[in-house]
Amino acid sequence: MRMVDLILKKRNGQALSKDEIEFMINNYVIGEIPDYQMSAFTMAVCFNGMDNNEVSYLTHAMAFSGDTVDLSAIRGVKVDKHSSGGVGDKTSLIVLPLVASIGVPVAKMSGRGLGHTGGTLDKLEAINGFKIELSNDDFINNVNEIGIALVGQTSNLVPADKKLYGLRDATGTVESIPLIASSIMSKKIASGADAIVLDVKVGAGAFMKNINDARELAEIMVSIGNNLNRKTVAILSNMNEPLGYEVGNANEIKEVVDVLKGKGEAKLTELCLELASNMAVLGGKYTNKAEAHQELNESISTGKALEKFKEFVLAQGGNVDFINDYKLLPQAKEHISITSENDGYISSINAEEIGIAAMLLGAGRKVKTDNIDYAVGITICKKTGEQVKKGDVIAIIHSNGQHTDSIAKTKAAFEIQTSMPTVDPIIYDVIQ
Ligand code: URA
Repeated sequence: MRMVDLILKKRNGQALSKDEIEFMINNYVIGEIPDYQMSAFTMAVCFNGMDNNEVSYLTHAMAFSGDTVDLSAIRGVKVDKHSSGGVGDKTSLIVLPLVASIGVPVAKMSGRGLGHTGGTLDKLEAINGFKIELSNDDFINNVNEIGIALVGQTSNLVPADKKLYGLRDATGTVESIPLIASSIMSKKIASGADAIVLDVKVGAGAFMKNINDARELAEIMVSIGNNLNRKTVAILSNMNEPLGYEVGNANEIKEVVDVLKGKGEAKLTELCLELASNMAVLGGKYTNKAEAHQELNESISTGKALEKFKEFVLAQGGNVDFINDYKLLPQAKEHISITSENDGYISSINAEEIGIAAMLLGAGRKVKTDNIDYAVGITICKKTGEQVKKGDVIAIIHSNGQHTDSIAKTKAAFEIQTSMPTVDPIIYDVIQ
């Protein structure tokens, strides 16, 4: 087999076979196929796409290109959750202890964030003492004993994706739906998931800016999961405005606890309950989502979900005193209020602009080697659809230094109009 023939085949709009795709990925990972040939191939995929079988073959070949995680020592159906990424997205930290509290085992590997704010691991490290490294035995024991563990990804998980992602980034081929779908799903499959719930975000602060592209991505990922015997559900959710009130790291941890205490912002809570209900059904705990939803709601109102979060933090070395005293989380030195310049209604809050403003404060990384300042971030005090009066505080910037650009960006992110706007739902659709 010759790579040039596979490039020609894709360039001419033909579908590749399983053997051809395996040949290509295996040889690319070991350096037998050079980057220039792979970049010609990815560009051909950008123009001609891939059918559902090809994307499944590609995902499978990528998933098994390096180490895979064996979760068979954990009892029960292991359901993973993935978010395509957004601003203020702390759902994993709410949903995972929540489902664990009703007996769905959570054995999760997460990544660090590159962009607006830290990823799930970075946010957890805002908690004093929290360790994201566990030995394999401790990881499995924690899940079997308390139902939940969350660790950093092993370094040789899906090397094909690491190589391909870097190449796509440098060759203008990131925005290809089959390539995005195989990149995401290969990591879930290599991480040992039996079933997968995907949160595909749509809007200003998301990778997918419009609902049609997001739906196409979600449908392909669900089809890959089902082709590879992993039951998969995708939720299409709104990422036009930041999710919840907090954007940052320590302040997002505080909001996680607020939701688990039953005091969360309504849309954030609604999305978490939808994600968790789907996980509970895929995990075989319930046959219908309404029952799962009710039990999860009860778990919040009775304090069971918060108790599970505490157990999880303690088991990974974290100090839980902050749960009753948020001042024990890292605190910024300055808190600058942004006020409304007019009377009216908030008609939009551009999530991407808020995300960049938070990153400029130090809440996220511009490049992989940047350090994160856990204490800084932005609190959104008024959400889309709310009425405001001139002078009302609409956002607070938590800063440890340079903040001029963040103030300007945060102000510019808010649009205020005189009439009541129509407010989009948080959940657009569920695809299965
Ligand atoms: N996230 C991924 O993991 N891969 C992509 O290609 C895009 C987003």
